[in-house]
Amino acid sequence: MKGVILAGGKGTRLSPLTKATNKILLPVYDRPMVYYPIETIVRAGVRNIIIVSAREHAGNFINLLGSGKEFGAKIEYTVQDEPRGVAHALSVAQDFVDGDDVLLNLGDNIVLDDISKEAKKFTGGAMVFLKKVKNLSAFGVPVFRGKDIVAIEEKPKRPKSPYAVTGLYIYDNTVFDKIRKLRPSARGEVEITDVNNLYIKEGTLRYSFLKKEWSDAGTFESLFETSEMMRKIINRDKRQ
Ligand code: TTP
Repeated sequence: MKGVILAGGKGTRLSPLTKATNKILLPVYDRPMVYYPIETIVRAGVRNIIIVSAREHAGNFINLLGSGKEFGAKIEYTVQDEPRGVAHALSVAQDFVDGDDVLLNLGDNIVLDDISKEAKKFTGGAMVFLKKVKNLSAFGVPVFRGKDIVAIEEKPKRPKSPYAVTGLYIYDNTVFDKIRKLRPSARGEVEITDVNNLYIKEGTLRYSFLKKEWSDAGTFESLFETSEMMRKIINRDKRQ
């Protein structure tokens, strides 16, 4: 399995913080945001990681992370020339993934769970990670029939379950064929929710729940709250 971290978006909701730098290089309390997806992927037992970045920020990621050896990982870098959507950014990593399965972590999604069991047990299809949240209309939200997810609705006005689909996914290598089949959405992006819905149609999408704190740090409020959350957790761990 290979790890992919996405850092290729515009970060418009965090402007002007993101005018001169990348969202994922911004601080979350005492460290750059990108440390979290790296740690999540390494904790899952995956050591080969690629960072997909916008061209103007690729050099900064290399300066910060180098070969990845401080993280016990081997980190490579590539560029998404234009921000054409999350699924498009993943497709840029196809050569690096080289026929393997993929553990995808959106760079602004902070996941503290250990998902090494899910990664080890993965035998194809797709796996999404769900978390109960209050502001559901900002996320992809699953629709259940019994225990099965039968659809994922993007930013629904009337959510049909209390769970957000978080920015952590495991895919088999057919994900790249699926992305090629997709057309950009009304907002001009190739959407990861459309990829997940193709797996649902195929009957191969499974899910797991995140038990620890999770955060999408893409807005001023959530970035601030994430820093506060990590400050508490880091200080609690220090005391223990
Ligand atoms: P988003 O938060 O959906 O988009 P964004 O980062 O451009 O921010 P904004 O909506 O405020 O303009 O992106 C989620 C993650 O996916 C983020 O870590 C960046 C990454 N991403 C890409 O790598 N390429 C893309 O084309 C897009 C849209 C996002």
